[in-house]
Amino acid sequence: MAPNQKTSATALASAYEPIEQELVETTELLKSRLRHVDPTFDAYLEYSFKLGGKRLRPALALLCGKAAGRIDNRCRLVAAALEMIHTGSLVHDDILDGAKFRRQLRTINARWDSQRAVLIGDLLITRAFELVCECDDSHVFRTLASCCKRTVEGELYQTESVGNFSLTFDDYLKIVGGKTASLIECSTSLGAYLGGARGEELERFARFGRLLGIAFQIVDDSLDLIGDEQVVGKTLGTDLENKKETLPLILFFQNASEKERERMFRKIESGVKARDRAEVAAILKESGSIDAALDEANKLVDEALDVVGELREKARVEGRKNADAPFDSLESLARFVVKRDV
Ligand code: IPE
Ligand code: IPE
Ligand code: MG
Ligand code: MG
Repeated sequence: MAPNQKTSATALASAYEPIEQELVETTELLKSRLRHVDPTFDAYLEYSFKLGGKRLRPALALLCGKAAGRIDNRCRLVAAALEMIHTGSLVHDDILDGAKFRRQLRTINARWDSQRAVLIGDLLITRAFELVCECDDSHVFRTLASCCKRTVEGELYQTESVGNFSLTFDDYLKIVGGKTASLIECSTSLGAYLGGARGEELERFARFGRLLGIAFQIVDDSLDLIGDEQVVGKTLGTDLENKKETLPLILFFQNASEKERERMFRKIESGVKARDRAEVAAILKESGSIDAALDEANKLVDEALDVVGELREKARVEGRKNADAPFDSLESLARFVVKRDV
């Protein structure tokens, strides 16, 4: 393991401490519910979870449940379902991006084919819905259904915007607010709902997830340009290769001179292969566009930290027991989102 990987892994392990046991139980639940469909299908599903990823969404659901009051079995079910939906959306996303590598392994589309990847992604998502039915709660079901719809709409907005290099910040928010932030918002909101939060408090938990989700995608977009594939564990540079304009590029096009814009436009139009990624990234870095994008992520995280402060204060006034540790973890995760290299 590279040293920076260790730093990120250590930061996550310490943030997950208050829910360590529940996260292990959720992972066991997830694995047990993926088995016994059919031995061939089992192998595909197990493969997609082999290296696991960061488990950020189930961890957020469990931490928000604990911060709001309690973690019961429904919260574990929802946490497992969130990770299944997330993984299903990644299996689909790798087809859209033509990515070959994910969670340090070959993607399903690369190892088998796109036909299987479409169906395996569908299987993961439908199994997740089967799981949440056990909660027998229409709010949970509705929230998750609306979140999946928004995730797909976000991916569709992005697909529709391929090759468009005049996106605004609002266009970008529409894309990432859907494809990434909706599931993270759903994680914090459903965790808190099952922990007992309602009304304004519940809205604050949802807002925390939304802010975190947008910041998370901004950092992901920067990593796509300047990250280390071996450390991140997935194919990078696919945004450029597929002509998807992300925030660093949007800011570059907004601020560069006519000549610089023209040069960059021609470069991307002619096709940026993996080997050219460093060259484009260097231009973006030099122009300050990557730092400017990360500044936006930092601002969102600062807002998210303010929301945690408000939620913590409410818990304190109510004399809620054992809430400090999960709130500390939510703050650590918010900071991790902008510092991470995985
Ligand atoms: C990747 O999500 C997809 C995005 C929303 C950017 P993660 O970075 O959380 O992926 P895993 O779960 O750790 O593999
Ligand atoms: C996130 O977008 C995809 C989903 C939310 C499904 P990306 O395409 O940037 O995600 P990665 O970089 O492939 O993980
Ligand atoms: Mg992708
Ligand atoms: Mg990405």
